[in-house]
Amino acid sequence: MIQTIAEDPFVDPRHELVGGDAARMGPWQRELLIRLGLDPQDMVLDLGCGTLRGGLHLIHFLDASRYTGVDPHPHLLAIGRELVTRAALDDREPTLVELATLDALGRTYDWVLTQSVLNHLDEDQIVATISRVSRVLGPNGRWVSTALFDPAAARVRLGEAHGHRPREFWWSRVNPVWFTGVMNAHGLMWHAVADAEHPRGMAVFVATWSVDAHPPLKLAADGTGSGASHHNRSAQPVSIHRVAPFGVPSR
Ligand SMILES: C[S@@+](CC[C@H](N)C(=O)[O-])C[C@H]1O[C@@H](n2cnc3c(N)ncnc32)[C@H](O)[C@@H]1O
Repeated sequence: MIQTIAEDPFVDPRHELVGGDAARMGPWQRELLIRLGLDPQDMVLDLGCGTLRGGLHLIHFLDASRYTGVDPHPHLLAIGRELVTRAALDDREPTLVELATLDALGRTYDWVLTQSVLNHLDEDQIVATISRVSRVLGPNGRWVSTALFDPAAARVRLGEAHGHRPREFWWSRVNPVWFTGVMNAHGLMWHAVADAEHPRGMAVFVATWSVDAHPPLKLAADGTGSGASHHNRSAQPVSIHRVAPFGVPSR
């Protein structure tokens, strides 16, 4: 059967509910993660997955049971589930659940993606998101995210109320120094991906566990150091080219 563009789940018109332009914004998310080292066997959390505008591409790339998409809005998840079926991706067994259920899954992830999420949140929600990621990011995990940074913002400069999605805003901008402080307080550090070429000019960063996040070594009975918790992780270098201190968008 020939599938028309209108029927193609990857560019379904309902992706407009999460910003549209699915033909560009979807593949870009997959290609960015692949460029940063995504492997089909990695566990991926798409935090704020919406209608799976990017999620469908990730589910297609990943092995079965490796993708988790969470979102606060059940109606967006319902569209995503329907599109998974239409894309003949049910056998990849993605997990699609509401945001409030994330901790209960008890999983950790090699990659967390928040694409076009932070720029819709207020200060409390951004702090809550950083805390949430810190609870689920695996020992060598990477958090890849877009953001809008503004050194002139006090902490978070709220955009206008979103209108369609309650408690969300348009173009919230974050002070990078404040953001770094909150990240560090959660044991995370971040680097801008200067050549990410986000289709809408947003900054892109990768966060990893900070080397400083290691708790003091606990001495075992034989006097050797022993790992006490998941914080005692071996920090892997992030192989990203051309990192810049802050990802200030070009517009
Ligand atoms: C612009 S859409 C982006 C959706 C998806 N990441 C994409 O790129 O297609 C923003 C998404 O963030 C979700 N969201 C809102 N508040 C959130 C929060 N506190 N944590 C995670 N996601 C949230 C919204 O429901 C919406 O689906």
